[in-house]
Amino acid sequence: MKVLITPSILSADLTRLQEEVSRVETCADWLQVDVMDGHFVPNLSFGAPLLKSLKTALPIDVHLMVSNPAERIAEFLELGVKNITFHAEAVTETAARKALIKAIRTGGATAGIALKPPTAFDAIEDVIGGIDLVLVMSVEPGFGGQKFLPDVLEKVRAIHERFPGLMIQMDGGISEKTAPLCIEAGCTNLVAGSFIFGAADPAAAIARLREL
Ligand code: DX5
Repeated sequence: MKVLITPSILSADLTRLQEEVSRVETCADWLQVDVMDGHFVPNLSFGAPLLKSLKTALPIDVHLMVSNPAERIAEFLELGVKNITFHAEAVTETAARKALIKAIRTGGATAGIALKPPTAFDAIEDVIGGIDLVLVMSVEPGFGGQKFLPDVLEKVRAIHERFPGLMIQMDGGISEKTAPLCIEAGCTNLVAGSFIFGAADPAAAIARLREL
């Protein structure tokens, strides 16, 4: 399976976001929008209004780092996003998880579930057979530019072994050093913020990740 490269706009220069996105428009696969509510994570980022203002043909991947994802999906589905991922730690009841996955899919997007570094794979046994992707966080969610936590690679291997066809996305501290470890473990979608938007040439940074 081709490894997708997904720049995260959290690390882009937000004073010229449209220009930054245009610089990766033709070389990225997806574009990730990190939605933070200042409650589930200790940071407040942005939401649907910002996304509405962006002009891009890239598939949008919404990473909801919010305590109430079920209340947030409608505004993103209206924008025709490609994927919406919510956190397993924010929705713990199986019935609620399944209802949310159904609502996301019915709204025309694929559904993902995210795991913080300390959260074990078995925390999502109840839904992993019925989701489109697992987002394994390799940093504590909330901020870009953090150090990659290699301990999560074991989690990726375990998921990939059990569900070889499932898309596994890694997010946090992805660089040309850490990306090969993730790919070897079974990741097929890499989210990178500072490695791409922190580079003088974001397109060249993406090309370097593709050469691995
Ligand atoms: C962190 C976000 C990540 C972050 C990645 O909570 O979910 O997407 O922006 O940034 P880097 O690649 O700089 O670790």
